[in-house]
Amino acid sequence: MGIPPRWFTDKGPEHSRWYIDRFRQMAADGVDLAGEARLLDAIVAPRSRILDAGCGPGRVGAELATRGHTVVGVDVDPELIAAAESDHPGPTWLVADLAELDLSAAGHCEPFEAAVLAGNVMTFVGLGTERAVLTRVGAHVRAGGIVAVGFGTDRGYPMADFDEDVSAAGLMVEHRFATWDLRPWSADATFAVSLLRKPRGGSDTDRTRPEAAEIARCGVRQENRAALSANLCPSAAESERRGVVRHPGSLSATP
Ligand SMILES: C[S@@+](CC[C@H](N)C(=O)[O-])C[C@H]1O[C@@H](n2cnc3c(N)ncnc32)[C@H](O)[C@@H]1O
Repeated sequence: MGIPPRWFTDKGPEHSRWYIDRFRQMAADGVDLAGEARLLDAIVAPRSRILDAGCGPGRVGAELATRGHTVVGVDVDPELIAAAESDHPGPTWLVADLAELDLSAAGHCEPFEAAVLAGNVMTFVGLGTERAVLTRVGAHVRAGGIVAVGFGTDRGYPMADFDEDVSAAGLMVEHRFATWDLRPWSADATFAVSLLRKPRGGSDTDRTRPEAAEIARCGVRQENRAALSANLCPSAAESERRGVVRHPGSLSATP
């Protein structure tokens, strides 16, 4: 790990336990914890591959899995990943730093249709790593895919800085709302939900299509997806079998 996440440096050692217990209690009390997942589910194709980036104890990824998506959840905090594994078997839960994310190195070669960073993840990553986080998350999403990011606007990460980092990461702000249930965005909103699009086009090696490099690192050529599916990346084969729509070009084109 490079620069330590503020999740560790700004919080005490008991914070992870507290966070796990808090969300378990809310779930037991019947609190609606699925708002982010409902939005994601509405904007991606059925049975998509979704990266829950900074997944914590897994509430968003678990709900997406319940809705039929294939979920990989990644978090830097092993205690939270252990809770996700225990509470929500089914999705793949991995410990990793988003600023250095390389899932192909762990055998997860196939890009995602979407990624979600819910619950202020961007304001808990290591200070100064925000751009790297967006770049590495974006690198795991296929061209034309979506990255959904929500965080409080009073948490020291101005929207102008975020937008600059988004652009540097090769992503585009397509929509912005004030809540996950799509209340209109305004400059004085206390929360921002940004739907970022990864553009299509460019060469296989340019920064808007780094998934080509990700697949290449798995030791295969991008066009040889059949070999990838059959031999090297079981998750790809699984998606092929499930018939996932690989390039849902726009919301209106999504079945
Ligand atoms: C407030 S929690 C949100 C958890 C989850 N997304 C949710 O909404 O329930 C913030 C999460 O970001 C994770 N995080 C912070 N920096 C990270 C990094 N560099 N890489 C991976 N996860 C990180 C923390 O470990 C923590 O689980």
